[in-house]
Amino acid sequence: MAKKIGVFVAWPYANGMLHLGHIAGAYLTADIFARYHRLVGNDVLMVSGSDSHGTPITITADQEGKTPRQVFEESHALFLEAWQKLGISFDLFTHTDTENHWTIAQDFFTRLLHKGYIYKATEKQLYCENDARFLPDRYISGECPHCHFPRARGDQCDACGRVLDATELINPQCKLAKPGETHRLVVRDSEHFYLDLPKFEKRLLDYLKDKDAYWKSNVVLFVRKWLERGLQGRAITRDLDWGIAVPLPGYSGKCIYVWFEAVIGYYSASVEWAKHRGTPDKWKEWWTKSDDVRGYYFVGKDNIPFHTIIWPAMLLGYDETLPLPYDVPANEFLNLEGRKFSKSENWAVWINDYLKSYDPDPLRYLLSVNMPEFADAEFTWREFVRRNNDDLISNWGNLANRVLSFTYKNFDGRVPTPGELTETDRALLAQSEATLAAVSDALERVRFKEAIGHAIELARQANVYLQVTEPWKTIKTDRARAATALFVALRVIDDLKVMFYPFLPFSSNELHRQLGYEGDLLGEIHVETVHESTRAHTVAVYTPGKHAQKWAPSQLPPGQVLREPKPLFKKLDEKIAEEEYAKLGKPRE
Ligand code: MF3
Ligand code: ZN
Repeated sequence: MAKKIGVFVAWPYANGMLHLGHIAGAYLTADIFARYHRLVGNDVLMVSGSDSHGTPITITADQEGKTPRQVFEESHALFLEAWQKLGISFDLFTHTDTENHWTIAQDFFTRLLHKGYIYKATEKQLYCENDARFLPDRYISGECPHCHFPRARGDQCDACGRVLDATELINPQCKLAKPGETHRLVVRDSEHFYLDLPKFEKRLLDYLKDKDAYWKSNVVLFVRKWLERGLQGRAITRDLDWGIAVPLPGYSGKCIYVWFEAVIGYYSASVEWAKHRGTPDKWKEWWTKSDDVRGYYFVGKDNIPFHTIIWPAMLLGYDETLPLPYDVPANEFLNLEGRKFSKSENWAVWINDYLKSYDPDPLRYLLSVNMPEFADAEFTWREFVRRNNDDLISNWGNLANRVLSFTYKNFDGRVPTPGELTETDRALLAQSEATLAAVSDALERVRFKEAIGHAIELARQANVYLQVTEPWKTIKTDRARAATALFVALRVIDDLKVMFYPFLPFSSNELHRQLGYEGDLLGEIHVETVHESTRAHTVAVYTPGKHAQKWAPSQLPPGQVLREPKPLFKKLDEKIAEEEYAKLGKPRE
């Protein structure tokens, strides 16, 4: 039976463009996983959206002299453009400022409150006397009380990853202070709502019991450490007006904490998706407990606590029948040319900029072979050029192009009819079939580098096969033998097309066409408008292409008419590496 695979992807803060670190951290892996599962024949629901609330948005708005709404709408449009051009195939990419999300988020809040999982408390909070306001999370920075990193944020420490309360920070500073100013921070009482995490401790431990067996060790370790220290109540409201209102009278000026409501987006976006396509109950198929239903959450490592503890707790409290995350395959970080990505220093390659100059597949390739899966990884422009030219093109692209061009010219533009297969022919075909299974096995385990590594190795073996069989020579003396070797090579190329497809969907789609198949493997990503009763918003929606492709060994039939071959990839000039490097760290026009 087809499995229901939920591909749930971290909701990016809509306060600027995304850079390659974000792409490698969550969006590319999610897309690879979704495309693979669709080809296998499973039912995939891949959703996310812009995280439009919270202090990351208001701080950017203050800095840029814009309203929070302007900031998030501009970013949202840039995200939609990036998904289209990079081929990130969200079934729905929406945002958190929709009526649908507001209603569902407030319902979570209300139900958890009524069931006694949310309590009210008056706690000490940092108040800035200069700005005459309570300072939420990211308006504060200071020294981490745990690892003593000097620039921890009010909500989380980027160095040790712990979730913090701003009052715990050593020597906290107000971020609204202009250079040279020091603002006076005092601790004052403020009333807030708290999620009663300790009430979930037993059930969380129970949920996590079997996760050692298949979760990535970095994720398991993180969760274990947090549980061992003991859970505490977490404030889930903030003194801020840009966000979802607390659904109770008397709380104007306070809103629901962005993290509490954003994770609900996985659920609300599933509902929105079903409504938008005219099948309002269909979302339930991914939100019902069953062995055939699995939710995978693709997030960066700083998001681990929210997806492995807080979101499961919220789900347990809201409705016991909802499935908890099956896996949270969080990636580590990507660095850029030896340094961390930095927005303020513009030490970044912005995905929308990249896509103006280059094709999507070379980047998808580099980030796949160099994915920060188990350790931090590095992007350099030099490696980008080298991997494109010396690796992608010379190993894979040329293999496909040489075989197709030679066949096209010498066999009347058709797949040749093979004679009897030799030992060598059979060995390569067997290897191809085994590799297809190995790639599949690795992707089932969410191991991306391993998966693409198998495909790359098969392409290398296919090149060796051609060196040994030399159809370009045998054609002069033994045309039947050349036909057989080319037939074998074409079948393996057809298999490689499938294995590379989740990683390199654009070139695999082109190859699919050149091999003479009908139908489109890539699918299309459209921007559409969703109308709600008081407002409208834009979303990205994926429509799979019509094709007869399965995740199965090639059945490429002899005699199939090929389409005119052309190279799958463009060679890149070495100069690019220097030129792009020189742009880093410069102010953007
Ligand atoms: N906006 C957060 C970030 O960029 C991620 C939110 S993931 C969600 O780090 F699940 F909460 F939506
Ligand atoms: Zn720390």
